[in-house]
Order: sequence, then structure tokens, then C-alpha cells
Amino acid sequence: MSVDLLIEQLNEALGWELRAVNMYAHYAATVQGIHRLQLDPLFTEEASESIAHADVVRRAIVKLGGIPVTERNPHPIANATDYKSMLERSLETETKASEVYGTIMTIVDQVGDQEMHDAIEQIYFAELRSLEHLRLILA
Ligand SMILES: [Fe+2]
Ligand SMILES: [Fe+2]
Repeated sequence: MSVDLLIEQLNEALGWELRAVNMYAHYAATVQGIHRLQLDPLFTEEASESIAHADVVRRAIVKLGGIPVTERNPHPIANATDYKSMLERSLETETKASEVYGTIMTIVDQVGDQEMHDAIEQIYFAELRSLEHLRLILA
């Protein structure tokens, strides 16, 4: 039973990662003005990180006997013309990711897989770091 719940929550995380890949790649390509110098690399890095996170989560789902989702989370990706709304959308996305991985951390130990625990914990901490980074950028 807890395995099913874990697979469900990992798939929730995977959907958000797939969405994050699209969102960050879109913002990296479209950001304009002087802030492009810093934000194109930042968004590009976040897009790559999301691909890596999705890969870990996908493999964890398969290891548990589940089927990974192939569609991104349907939460809309707003086109933005100013860098501040891009950063606010990014903060929203990282907040959501932190919540989902926080939930996963509370149930992952029930399956007794230490390697999976550590792999997901690393992602969880990365989301918390991104969240704090964005919070300070927007402060
Ligand atoms: Fe992520
Ligand atoms: Fe993230």
C-alpha cells in the first residue's frame, strides 16, 4: 500500500519536473534585457537540473514496479515578458517541487530502500536550495 502511494507521489514529482524543463527552457530562450546575462544561464541550469531529477525519479518509479508518467503537470506555463514574473513563476515552481519532495521524504522510508532515500533526499535539498536562492533574488 505504501509502495503505491510512493509511486503516486513520485509520479507527481516527475510531472512537475517535466513541466519545469519546459518552463525553464522557455524562460532561458525568451528573457530579454540586461538581466539576460545572468538569467539565461540560471534558467538553463535549472532546466538541466530538472532533466537530471526527472531521470532519477523515473528510475525510482520503475524500481518500485510502477509506470512513470510521460506527460508534464498541466499547471499552465505562463509566457512572461518581464524577468520579475519569470522569477516569480520560478519561485512558485520550486515551492511546489519542495512540497512534493517533502511529502515523498515522509513516506520513502516505508519501503526500506536506503539508496532511494538518499537519491530523493539529494533532490529535495536541491529544490530547497533553489527556493532559497530565488527568494533572495526576489527580496
Ligand atoms: Fe527538480
Ligand atoms: Fe527545481
